[in-house]
Amino acid sequence: MQHILEELQKRRDQARQGGGERRIAAQHAKGKLTARERIELLLDEGSFEEFDMFVEHRATEFGMAEQRIPGDGVVTGWGAINGRVVYVFSKDFTVFGGSLSMAHAQKIVKVQRMAAKVGAPVIGLFDAGGARIQEGVDSLAGYADIFVENVLSSGVIPQISVIMGPCAGGDVYSPAMTDFIFMVKDTSYMYVTGPDVVRTVTNEEVSHEDLGGARVHAGKSGVADGAFENDLEALTQIRRLVDFLPASNREKPPVRESFDDPERDEPSLDTLVPANPNKPYDMKELILKVVDEADFFEISKDWARNIITGFARMDGATVGVVANQPQVLAGVLDIDASRKAARFVRFCDAFQIPIVTFVDVPGFMPGTRQEYGGLIKHGAKLLFAYTEATVPKVTVITRKAYGGAYDVMSSKHLRGDVNYAWPTAEIAVMGAKGAVEIIFRADAKDPAKLAEREAEYKARFANPFVAASRGYIDDVIMPHGTRRRIVRALKSLKNKQVSNPWKKHDNIPL
Ligand code: HXC
Repeated sequence: MQHILEELQKRRDQARQGGGERRIAAQHAKGKLTARERIELLLDEGSFEEFDMFVEHRATEFGMAEQRIPGDGVVTGWGAINGRVVYVFSKDFTVFGGSLSMAHAQKIVKVQRMAAKVGAPVIGLFDAGGARIQEGVDSLAGYADIFVENVLSSGVIPQISVIMGPCAGGDVYSPAMTDFIFMVKDTSYMYVTGPDVVRTVTNEEVSHEDLGGARVHAGKSGVADGAFENDLEALTQIRRLVDFLPASNREKPPVRESFDDPERDEPSLDTLVPANPNKPYDMKELILKVVDEADFFEISKDWARNIITGFARMDGATVGVVANQPQVLAGVLDIDASRKAARFVRFCDAFQIPIVTFVDVPGFMPGTRQEYGGLIKHGAKLLFAYTEATVPKVTVITRKAYGGAYDVMSSKHLRGDVNYAWPTAEIAVMGAKGAVEIIFRADAKDPAKLAEREAEYKARFANPFVAASRGYIDDVIMPHGTRRRIVRALKSLKNKQVSNPWKKHDNIPL
């Protein structure tokens, strides 16, 4: 019996060695952890249960029959994050560069299916060279099997991808279909085709980093939802994110004991909005002062910074926060901001997470760049997302809510449940100056008259009371009481039930 146990131990040790000491040392030399080290850091200590440690590829061409490494380039299984079950797969770059064979794909599909079945998040850690070149079409088939599970699980369980090394070719499209992508700065990159192919096809010279590094995707393309300094920070932050999320669409988001008084006043908010309507202020200050313990997990922090999205808790329960940021482009809605917020709103709605919206928006961004880029279709995404969302929706207008953007930002008209405004709110078709220049064009040559008209317009419309008199705003609230009012509103909406008409699925303007 003893020798059988020893044989098992020997096989396990061999599998845990992955591609061997030399390749592990090379991995460390690049500032990267190994697939197994990453799992250790991601999961609660000692909670990892591995699947398929002995799986090997079945290819025989190009000398592959002689090169079989147990595990075949991906470590898979399940474990816990702060006691809650999650499924994981972690690509092992030390084994065939983490490239994907059919056997490797089947291991991933197994955890994807298990996660969907039990209702638990899937977290994929990527560090891989794409399709296993020696396997040809089997590898492509394997990718497609993973894509299918990504799509079927979308909106059912949270799917999170962390890019921690190369991620090219087939490897990019699975993360692209998950809910969130995070990258590690300097050691990870993502692209469909690498610099060599780019040079051949377009004559463009570009580095890995400039083509698909973390800064590119977290700041320019918006493909990634965040970039972290190193593996350790990335994995620690993923643990934090998972704590905010429900395990599946069958559960309500987790509620954590809060030590922050739900009735807490925040007197400094009474002076947050400057007297001059053209002066910016930091909307993040409002968010941090209102949510529990100033704990805010921001999504897409460095992309489309004119809108803020992220998770927080109110009296212990997770909420999704969407807020215009007057500090960037005056908080205008443009293509990127609309796309970013729409996707976030849809995630929240799919996973029963109430949405709190803070509004200070001067309108949609004018200009040919925006119109040629399809602002109409992209802006409509946000309008669509807020409208179809059936989760509790609480909105606070702090200052500007102009034009179509007023409607879009979770207004009463789009089935907002509780809509508040601060006394500093200006709810109107547009700003006073622009408005009088249009309706009193005849006075254009008379600045004194125009100024008089502007003051008149401001007094008449640049306030929350016209909207409140129609019932479009449920109450005009004191800024210092914002936290208390939101907590109470969310409490009142706890058992909200609304269902949309039956349909196979909607046709959001993609
Ligand atoms: C098999 C691979 C591999 C691959 C890397 N390796 N990529 N083996 N298939 N796709 C192996 C290498 O042979 C090497 O083995 C080890 O992994 C490490 O690779 P290096 O090149 O030494 O590492 P590095 O210099 O860090 O470069 C990493 C890399 C590069 C940039 C990812 O390896 C590379 O360009 N790989 C090919 C990428 C690619 O074109 N993939 C196919 C994409 S097409 P040894 O034994 O020396 O350690 C695709 C289509 C799918 O994915 C579409 C589905 C929709």
